[in-house]
Amino acid sequence: MSSVTFVASVAILLVASAIICPSNGITEDILAAICSQTQNQETCEAILESDPRTGSADLPLLSLISLDLLSKQADENHSSFVQFRENSTDLDLKRSFGNCVKGYSDMQGKIKVALELSQKRQYKRINELGQLIKLAYSCENGLPSNSPTSGITETMLLTSQTAVYVNQFLITFFG
Ligand SMILES: *[C@@H]1O[C@H](CO)[C@@H](O)[C@H](O)[C@H]1NC(C)=O
Ligand SMILES: *[C@@H]1O[C@H](CO)[C@@H](O)[C@H](O)[C@H]1NC(C)=O
Repeated sequence: MSSVTFVASVAILLVASAIICPSNGITEDILAAICSQTQNQETCEAILESDPRTGSADLPLLSLISLDLLSKQADENHSSFVQFRENSTDLDLKRSFGNCVKGYSDMQGKIKVALELSQKRQYKRINELGQLIKLAYSCENGLPSNSPTSGITETMLLTSQTAVYVNQFLITFFG
């Protein structure tokens, strides 16, 4: 068995057991199968477990949770960039923060679409979340290297990746 086939079989078994025993909620095995694909497994698990619903969630709810968390981050960080823009007196910096405000607002639109698709269980059509990572980098790259915002970009990257892999995992079962 190739390793790809093996990973796919394990994924299918995990999904199957989650469906058969939905009352067990999201197990550590499922979280590990999803989060091991991201850049930082521990952070991904911590992000998902930060929502109290995760313990008793089924997979469709986990998708909604991952997108709710992403949405909350985009909203909070969008407001921060609005403040950074308003607070800066340097015109170049003001323009760069303006690019971030626009980027985070584009993210909010893409997350809203993904949430609607998740509610309809159309996981295969959730395919714009990868662009959030590009938008976050495009914002950060326009800012000075000592900008206090690099932490925002890092957590946005990890929260986006977490949502990407949760929703890819759901495609295996729900299509
Ligand atoms: C960015 O969003 C995260 C997650 O919601 C939040 O913890 C963090 O404080 C936000 N940072 C800023 C500066 O908006
Ligand atoms: C912007 O300035 C206000 C008022 O001085 C301050 O409360 C806020 O923390 C600042 N925001 C940022 C993101 O620097």
